[in-house]
Amino acid sequence: MNKPKVFVTRHILDSGLNLIQGFCEVEMWPGELPPSHPELLNHVRGQEGLLCLLTDKIDKEVMETAGVSLKVISNCAAGVDNVDVTVASARGIPVGNTPDVLTDATADFTFALLMAAARRVVEGERVVRSGGWKTWSLDTLLGADFYGAVLGLVGFGRIGKAVARRANGFGMRIIYTDSQQQVSQEPGITADRVNLDTLLRESDFISLHTPLTIETRGLINSAAFEKMKPNTVLVNTSRGPIVDQKALCEALKSRRIFAAALDVTEPEPIPPDSPLLNLENCIIVPHIASASWHTRQCMSRMAAENLIAGLKGEPLPNCVNPEVYSRPISIHRQ
Ligand code: GLV
Repeated sequence: MNKPKVFVTRHILDSGLNLIQGFCEVEMWPGELPPSHPELLNHVRGQEGLLCLLTDKIDKEVMETAGVSLKVISNCAAGVDNVDVTVASARGIPVGNTPDVLTDATADFTFALLMAAARRVVEGERVVRSGGWKTWSLDTLLGADFYGAVLGLVGFGRIGKAVARRANGFGMRIIYTDSQQQVSQEPGITADRVNLDTLLRESDFISLHTPLTIETRGLINSAAFEKMKPNTVLVNTSRGPIVDQKALCEALKSRRIFAAALDVTEPEPIPPDSPLLNLENCIIVPHIASASWHTRQCMSRMAAENLIAGLKGEPLPNCVNPEVYSRPISIHRQ
């Protein structure tokens, strides 16, 4: 029996790769960098499955070029803002993602960034390396306290709640916003729901955990920075475009806020001439919040399981558009 043909847009870890190779005829992009859009179009033609990363823009053109054979898109990430899910749904293509398995790793890393920015870890390390450590003094690299501080979480889904759980242990007061009408309170988490305005005005630390949507693009803009306290530490481990980077740069430069730490930027990678890279009070790391050995193996396996389920015509274990299973296809797949 012929194996189904799939295109994998970059190397994935063994836990996923072994599964896919056992079931599919795999064409894997060999590059360290993602395929360009024309290269993606070239390789997706006639494939039955597509396993992609968050660096690949899976738009209408990609799906049309793949053609009627394309049965499933499996994104090896929790966020799916790189995939045009509306078009996929209209074409009856289920889209898979990899939530849950990265929640704790991402929450841990959010805390690493909160602490690094508040306690000036990276700045201190730079001082030492450049020979600037002359003595101990009472006012060297002073930073912010965690105990008793207010942590504002923008988004209170799985990752937001996991960050809250950690913050409770640090003796912080937690406030949050969430777009869902009903947010379930987890046992063991003490947190108060507020509106965004209150969160911006009252928080000492602000951490972003909301997906990128039309509503959240540019949410943290100059008007938002105006409302923040001067001691605010902002951390973004969600998606770069949620923060207006020009406004952030102004806010950091003018000390409108104390510090920021970004795991995600717009664009990625951040251009080497970005003014943010010249600021002592800004930490930028290359989108690694979920990058623990175990988590990335789990993500690779989940992405493979979604892909294989889609190829078999079975419901994906993690599907972001389950409506494809109950709705007639509204676009003729061409
Ligand atoms: C990482 O940012 C993810 O969405 O998995």
